Order: sequence, then structure tokens, then C-alpha cells
Amino acid sequence: MSKAIEITNLTHKYTQSGAQEVVAVSDVNLSIEKGESIGIIGHTGSGKSTLISHFNGLLKPTSGDVVVDGTNIWADKETLRNARFKVGLCFQYPEYQLFEETVYKDIAFGPKNMKLSPEEIDERVLRAAEFTGISKSMLEKSPFELSGGEKRRAAIAGVIAMNPEVIVLDEPAAGLDPAGRKSLIDMIKAYRDSTGSTVIMVTHNMEDIARIAERLIVINRGKIALDGTVDEVFSRSDDLVQWGLKVPEITEVFTRLHNMGCNVPRGVYTVDEGVKILSRVMRGGAGLG
Ligand SMILES: Nc1ncnc2c1ncn2[C@@H]1O[C@H](COP(=O)(O)OP(=O)(O)OP(=O)(O)O)[C@@H](O)[C@H]1O
Ligand SMILES: [Mg+2]
Repeated sequence: MSKAIEITNLTHKYTQSGAQEVVAVSDVNLSIEKGESIGIIGHTGSGKSTLISHFNGLLKPTSGDVVVDGTNIWADKETLRNARFKVGLCFQYPEYQLFEETVYKDIAFGPKNMKLSPEEIDERVLRAAEFTGISKSMLEKSPFELSGGEKRRAAIAGVIAMNPEVIVLDEPAAGLDPAGRKSLIDMIKAYRDSTGSTVIMVTHNMEDIARIAERLIVINRGKIALDGTVDEVFSRSDDLVQWGLKVPEITEVFTRLHNMGCNVPRGVYTVDEGVKILSRVMRGGAGLG
């Protein structure tokens, strides 16, 4: 079976007149299996958005290849078009994705481009809206009337309405409060569970990523600094600091408790998990039990 995405020797340089050339992605090799749930983390400016914008051909490599589902997406126009439907990209700033008069039209934009029948388009819009918690009345509003969280949901609805095999989300929970973040991440998780799609998420938030990803890729200065399971990556806290990142606070707390001799495990990555363990310990049971 072909891989969901296969990237070889990908380099992307930005050139602007009068400005110095920036090498945002530098000779990256990356292979993503179908159905994987991947987190991409890295300091501001490390090249995350540039990298993922190659997954559906939004950016063209300066050099290197991008193969989606076994086909080089730059082979011809038709292949590129199909790659845009297969790999749904949710932008870092939802404002860039929402531009129609109504939320309904925005969500319908992708399915319309796919040249589906009006009935199918309507069905897809309503299904995506329901899944993302966009109410019927919200569908008739202008996207500019929505709150930050609603805009994110509308942008995600527009992507999932295309039924993509791969969904790529760039900082989907940025700017939301903790409850908003959690419900958004839970929604993405539910989407993956119900569709089996490949999910790739970029975030600065280590707790968010621990909730959803199985594999983590650390980007530093346009290169892959580390690629491994969540446990593998989070156990390298000294290296993470070097790359401008750090493990979740809750993980540090549990590592210290563990090192002090408390009967609690190390790899605890979310506050929910930490609370469960502590309440067991306080009831007299072992934290590990
Ligand atoms: N359109 C552009 N023109 C010129 N340089 C750019 C452009 N977009 C990004 N860059 C530069 O490329 C590098 C990588 O940027 P990119 O946006 O991919 O990083 P990022 O990891 O997504 O950052 P953030 O976490 O802030 O979103 C940075 O040095 C950035 O300044
Ligand atoms: Mg970015």
C-alpha cells in the first residue's frame, strides 16, 4: 500500500526582492503512513507552516519531491488538483480561509470545487457543520460575525466537507481558552476515530499534542531534529529546551515527584491524566495501579 505522504529532499527557499533569501525548509525527508496521527512541533519560525504547505501543493518545492498516495503531486495540473482534495489543509489563520458571504458558502467552497451535485454539496455542508458544532443559524451568518473558536470550527468544517484522506491542521487551537482548546482537540480526535483519516497537527502546545498524536516530529531551523513516539520525544527534555520547546508542566511535576520517590509514573502528559493518578494516590491506592 502506498504511503499517505512521502517527502524526499525537500527544500524551500523564500526569495523577496531586496531581502535576503530564507531557507525555510532544508533537505527534509519524511514518510507518513495512512492512518497515522502526527504532531509537528517547533519554535516560531522553524519552518512548520512552510513544510506542511507542501503536503497539498499550496507551496511548490524549490527542490525535492512530494508524493501523495503514490503519485508525485506536481506531475500535472489534474494530479495537483486531486492532491488538494486528498490532503485538506486548515490554515494557521482561519481568516485566510473564510472569505465568502456566509459560513454555509465557505464550507461549501471545497465540495463545489470538487464539482459534486448540489444535493451532495448540501449534505456535506450540513454533516461537516454538525460535526464541528456549527449551528443552522450560524451557517447563515457572515464568517466575520463568528467568535475566534467558531471561526476555527468553520474553517475545519470547510476542510472536512471535502472528505480528505489526510487532514492537516496548523495551530487549530491557537488563541482559544483551555476549555475551547480541549473541545477542539476532542473534536479532531473524534473525526479521526470515525473516519480513519491521517491527521497531522502543528502546534506550540505540548499538552494539546500529547492528547492526540502518536508520533511527534520536532522541526528546528528547517530540519527534522527528532522524529519518534510521544514518549521518546518527551523524554528528551534537555534537547527540547535547545530547540526552544519544553515538555508540558504537568510532565515536569510528575517527573520530580517520581524522582523524589513518590509512587507515581513518569510519562504523564496531560492534566486530566495527572488528576486521575493523584486522586488514586490520595485514596490510598498506588499511582501506577
Ligand atoms: N512568505 C514568506 N516570505 C519570506 N519569508 C517567509 C515567508 N513565510 C515564512 N517565511 C520565513 O520562513 C521561515 C519559516 O517560517 P514558517 O512560517 O514556516 O515557520 P513556523 O514554524 O510555521 O512559525 P510559527 O510557529 O511562528 O507559525 C521564517 O524564517 C519565516 O520568517
Ligand atoms: Mg506557522
